[in-house]
Amino acid sequence: MTAPSIPRIALVAALHEELASVLALMPDEHKETVGGRDFWVGHLHGQEVVAALCGIGKVAAATTATLLIQYFGVDRIVFTGVAGGLGPGVNVGDVVVARSLLQHDYDVSPIFPRYVIPGHGVSEFPSDAQLSDRLAGACETVLGALPDHVDLASIAKFGLHKPKLHQGLVISGDRFVCTTPESEKLIRELPSALAVEMEGAAFAQVCKDFNLPLALVRTISDRADDEAHVDFPSFLKEVASKYSGAIIQTLFSDEMEKSDTYPEREH
Ligand code: ADE
Repeated sequence: MTAPSIPRIALVAALHEELASVLALMPDEHKETVGGRDFWVGHLHGQEVVAALCGIGKVAAATTATLLIQYFGVDRIVFTGVAGGLGPGVNVGDVVVARSLLQHDYDVSPIFPRYVIPGHGVSEFPSDAQLSDRLAGACETVLGALPDHVDLASIAKFGLHKPKLHQGLVISGDRFVCTTPESEKLIRELPSALAVEMEGAAFAQVCKDFNLPLALVRTISDRADDEAHVDFPSFLKEVASKYSGAIIQTLFSDEMEKSDTYPEREH
């Protein structure tokens, strides 16, 4: 396989509902299926973009990240989707921008310390500081004008009053965490974790391998406890999808103003 020298920025989500409003922003996209998953190549605010439907879990994430980098030749990756809140005050409707990512189900102990990835010698991979700053700025803008993006009935239904932006550690594993004992265990073992999801840390590891900037934003859909499954599909459709579209739209309008500050990456 050779890498066509077209698009630059990858926009990724695990689920179709999370990607739908991003695709709606791309006027000229066309679908390509590679490695059994769907990618949409086109433009957003005049910038070359590949939108990718990653699928659920760390293997799907690693495959998607590798294809985006090696086959589609993207320069940077922005991941958007939902997560379960773990940190104190990380509530449904809040947004988390990852500053570092860790696989909570990775364990080669006693040969290596728990969570540490052999070969890298670390357990946490940082996200890209500059891209994450921009993403966080876009999130602040969107959260400050929520009723422009999410209808009032959904704001009332999910209690989305004064949603907050949090930034810090996001943890990933091949499990939808939906019992209170399990989320309490994660909080005990990884007290700085803000949110749990199923793909981000795998993206971070692949991006580290290829020296590629990654930023990740997650809307909190649940508290990873016994209630986690309640209203998950309607939250995705009515709230998370709207957040994703609005955050990416805002990020790209800001990017257009600042794009001359981004260095070209050598392939
Ligand atoms: N994505 C959204 N909520 C989640 C949860 N509770 N566990 C894992 N991934 C999630």
